[in-house]
Amino acid sequence: MTKLSVNINKVATLRNARGGNVPNVCQVALDCEKFGAQGITVHPRPDERHIRFSDVWELKSKISTEFNIEGYPSPEFIQLVKSVKPHQVTLVPDPPDAITSNSGWDTVNNLEFLKNVVADFQSVGIRVSIFVDTCMKNVEFAAKTGTDRIELYTEPYASNYPSGKEAAVAPFLEAAKLAKSLGLGLNAGHDLSLENLKYFHEIIPWIDEVSIGHALISDALYFGLEDTIKRYKEQLV
Ligand code: PXP
Repeated sequence: MTKLSVNINKVATLRNARGGNVPNVCQVALDCEKFGAQGITVHPRPDERHIRFSDVWELKSKISTEFNIEGYPSPEFIQLVKSVKPHQVTLVPDPPDAITSNSGWDTVNNLEFLKNVVADFQSVGIRVSIFVDTCMKNVEFAAKTGTDRIELYTEPYASNYPSGKEAAVAPFLEAAKLAKSLGLGLNAGHDLSLENLKYFHEIIPWIDEVSIGHALISDALYFGLEDTIKRYKEQLV
């Protein structure tokens, strides 16, 4: 079964626009769970422009599904994640000022760094996932870090999907097969949507988890959160 983890960063962005507590990020996370989400993802950034470090603590104490924290493994991030102890940490290579994650790791050139970070998180019982593109070398070297999973950066799939879904998914299928043969678990995320998710899952049905934020929260403006989460889960059956 492929789990749907809802990335709630956008909800925090909306809240922060007014400085109060509307919408209530924690309540939205609890409602996502009530409506069927099997996980909650957050990406706390150093400037706390959407998810704040205090949100991470509050979420940890309240949610009951899988908690996934993404981010660049800076010393502050590592300290936060190791003390909060979510089920999973997803390592992304983006610099602190990036609008959103826009590439996977160069695992070849960051092998030693990633090995140490992966071992550090695993030593306190946190599953690790490394965000990578479909370059075979990056998948192969991700496995050498000792990570439990990789998360495939699906932006190129999403942007190429309208002009030809078979060609768009082909490199992802190859990378996913390699990951499987190397014993890695598989997550996927970025720009997945009601338009492109079903086909991705049909071709790569062994994905462990998709993490979806932007499109899902945008769809909720039209369909409501409950209906939207149902629709996303229907793509994954
Ligand atoms: N996975 C990772 C590693 C991300 O950084 C993001 C964006 O924060 C997502 C998944 C979700 O992407 P989207 O918001 O486009 O669904």
